Amino acid sequence: MCGIYGYIGEHSAAQIIVKGLRSLEYRGYDSAGIAVIDNVGNINISKFGEHKSSIDKLTKSIKDDKFNGNIGIGHTRWATHGEISKNNSHPHSDSDNTVAIVHNGIIENYLEIKQKLECLGIRFSSQTDSEIIANYLSYEIKKGENLLKAVSKLKKVIRGNSSILAISISNPEEIIGIRLGNAGGIVVGLDDNATYISSDLSALLPRTNKILYLENQEIIKISNRNYKLYNSDLEEIDRSPQKIEVDKYDVDKGEYPHYMIKEINEQPNSIQSSIAGRINFSSNTVILPEIDNKEINISEFNRIIFTGMGTSLHAAMYGAYIFENILGIASSAENSSELRYRNPVIDDKTLLIAITQSGETADTLSAIEHFKNKSCKVISIVESFGTEASRISDSTIRIKAGQEIGVAATKTLTSTMVTLIQLALFFNLDLNKSVGNTISSLIKDISILPSSISEVLNCETEIKKLGNSMSGYSNILYLGRGINISTALEGALKMKEIAYLHAEGYPAGEMKHGVNALLGSKMPTILIIPDDELFEKNLGTINEVKARGSKTLVITDSNSKDLRTLSDDLIVVPKINNLLSPILFIIALQIIAYHTAISLNLDPDKPRNLAKTVTVE
Ligand code: AGP
Repeated sequence: MCGIYGYIGEHSAAQIIVKGLRSLEYRGYDSAGIAVIDNVGNINISKFGEHKSSIDKLTKSIKDDKFNGNIGIGHTRWATHGEISKNNSHPHSDSDNTVAIVHNGIIENYLEIKQKLECLGIRFSSQTDSEIIANYLSYEIKKGENLLKAVSKLKKVIRGNSSILAISISNPEEIIGIRLGNAGGIVVGLDDNATYISSDLSALLPRTNKILYLENQEIIKISNRNYKLYNSDLEEIDRSPQKIEVDKYDVDKGEYPHYMIKEINEQPNSIQSSIAGRINFSSNTVILPEIDNKEINISEFNRIIFTGMGTSLHAAMYGAYIFENILGIASSAENSSELRYRNPVIDDKTLLIAITQSGETADTLSAIEHFKNKSCKVISIVESFGTEASRISDSTIRIKAGQEIGVAATKTLTSTMVTLIQLALFFNLDLNKSVGNTISSLIKDISILPSSISEVLNCETEIKKLGNSMSGYSNILYLGRGINISTALEGALKMKEIAYLHAEGYPAGEMKHGVNALLGSKMPTILIIPDDELFEKNLGTINEVKARGSKTLVITDSNSKDLRTLSDDLIVVPKINNLLSPILFIIALQIIAYHTAISLNLDPDKPRNLAKTVTVE
């Protein structure tokens, strides 16, 4: 979703900003642009509203001398208000080109403000809500305010979640940033010769690890090597930057044609990194220093709610299943956007576990805030500390998958799943439950998970053929039971997301209650059938599906002859504990979706209409 990047320093701003925008590309965008104040004090803007080539065109356009200034702002847009076009792209300037802004988020009352400005004779050239910001600031500056004061006045006028950067020819040596609510946040990076500002920590880390986060309602004025931070009444806040320790980001595609397949193949390593240092295999214990037992004492909760969106919702469903199973505490999973607005009955005995790999998903952040306001404890499961979810939660656990660039979540899901298992085992110890055979065999199987994943990946060539065969259909059904309902939902989501095929995930038990009507030769069925206590029931399902003429593709860890006979195609993954096997099934489903997309000639890294980080509700 939209990304922002600003620079002020000793070097030419344009190249640095465009590089910054490149590192925001993975969030998803359809347009890109920059605004630079040149050496004679004019604002120059270059922007493009063309889905795949905007940043390439931007890179060429900034070679012009007029982009030689040392201060500028840039933006990658993911359209919300108005079509994808040059005019609707950011930066937006006022009608006299004296102010330029970039904006993430939505201004809910923009029409009302636009009408007021139009009555004052101000003309607009885009369909966006964002353009009112530039015109409002310019209006205030013309009345005698400086840029900082104008931004603080704007804050009192606009409603909704927004992150904004602004520059003006009236204050040509500063960038003003403001953060209102959860629209992707604002992070400032400082080094000896320059100051950077962005929506995304990962875009700053290649430049500096001296970082300052803006809190909700805060305003920042940055100049070369300096900054001043203010609260909403423009009183100065004294806060020093922090040094962020991060894993080295490996964002190169290397030998792979797409990030998605690279990230699928990284899973033995990413899972290894999610486990490393957290499990003592000789004492069968899990060490999670991130959880302060005094702050979060599991025995005080009678209910756990897991929440997330999309793939993270599927991780939440998996989490609820394993927590109820291991800890015996009532657990459920709910989509964050619904959870936030339905006013759930919750109290301080309810624990919220919020799952968001980006740590910036607007719906999930709203759900966290809602639960915090009701005195609930919140644990967030994220990739990076410092993300907004981590900052507003009581505790945070990193999944340690490494940055994921592909829009379709792959390695971050499996790392989240293994992190959830470890959290359940950690709490299990706190509850003083005896470490029986079940737990010790589970812990043992966690240790072999990376090698089991490698075995699945070694079958990519066979799985690829199945992916190719799926590309001939328009509709695909995914069935699972119990812990694998979320596996089925995830398989279907991957297929919809990158191959644009209609795919539905269903609990297998639902079939007779309506879905059977869809079965037939035009609707293949992918069945997740583990070697578990529901195996016989699943054999019944595959019989029913076959009897109605659907092609059956079974993903299993069983060696059953019956399954070989009944399935048209079969993928057998290594046998592992039933609480872990969904991870192996999901990896097979990721490979199927990837190769379906490839055989349909689609780019799985940039699926249409989707963004990696969804910072608006
Ligand atoms: C999954 O492939 C999607 N990219 C999407 O469903 C994603 O999982 C969702 O938007 C939540 O993202 P988050 O984990 O960053 O909160």
